[in-house]
Amino acid sequence: MGRLGNKAVLITGGGGGIGGAIAERFAAEGARVLCCDLDEMAAARVAAKIGGGATAHGCDVSDPITVQAAVARAVEMFGALNVLVNAAAGREPIGDVVDLSLEDWRRTIDVNLTGIFLMCKYAAPEIAATGGGSIVNIASQLGSVVVPNRPAYVTTKAAVIQLSRSMAVDFADRNIRVNSLSPGATEADRLLVRFKTMEAARAALAPLHPIGRLGRPDEIAEAALFLASDESSFMTGSDMVVDGGYNAV
Ligand SMILES: NC(=O)c1ccc[n+]([C@@H]2O[C@H](COP(=O)([O-])OP(=O)(O)OC[C@H]3O[C@@H](n4cnc5c(N)ncnc54)[C@H](O)[C@@H]3O)[C@@H](O)[C@H]2O)c1
Repeated sequence: MGRLGNKAVLITGGGGGIGGAIAERFAAEGARVLCCDLDEMAAARVAAKIGGGATAHGCDVSDPITVQAAVARAVEMFGALNVLVNAAAGREPIGDVVDLSLEDWRRTIDVNLTGIFLMCKYAAPEIAATGGGSIVNIASQLGSVVVPNRPAYVTTKAAVIQLSRSMAVDFADRNIRVNSLSPGATEADRLLVRFKTMEAARAALAPLHPIGRLGRPDEIAEAALFLASDESSFMTGSDMVVDGGYNAV
């Protein structure tokens, strides 16, 4: 049966490193998964790797029309919606507030923050209609601390933690738990925006994690599985930090 036996799950960023690993882990635990991503081909590759338990769907989380279509597709396919995982995030340029264009600032807010607002806005009523469930919003260790030259990203991640708490309070009466999950630096292609190779990313970032290495997407997926499953039934409004000790120092 598995730890998510027959649960209907929608994952945004399902074609990415962490979202893809979550889709794979959830499907292995019996979930039926709709992998939504702006990069539909990437989502299709994840779904093909998983096989019968997953389907790919193209969606821009910042666009209310495609968000509603993604939620409708999940409900149509599964006849229910139990779990929403918001893992989509754009790859914004590096630079301080002076350097960052207004367009890049707005796009980062639109995708990383408004994207979660929109997904929850349209998915929560469906989860409630199913009898309740769990929403997991992927934030970041950089929602609690900052690094230089990423003002838009760190601001959206702090806001995702607060938005998750706010929805946890508001949705408790609908039996929907909402938690954020904050990974430390994790070996996914997004690190290649700032570092030419994964080896360079490891050399620069591993020493900042007391555990002495970067995280793996499957380690983040394991935490997401706990938050999505009934094993975390008394947990809502929390930010689960899975960062190899990054924020402890
Ligand atoms: N990798 C890390 O070091 C790290 C650390 C902390 C937090 N995170 C967070 O984890 C989540 C997953 O990141 P990842 O590391 O897997 O990165 P990734 O770039 O591999 O995955 C992100 C996915 O989101 C998709 N996406 C981008 N814009 C979208 C949009 N508008 N609509 C729908 N999909 C869109 C991308 O196509 C991509 O497949 C993100 O929220 C990220 O901020 C990552």
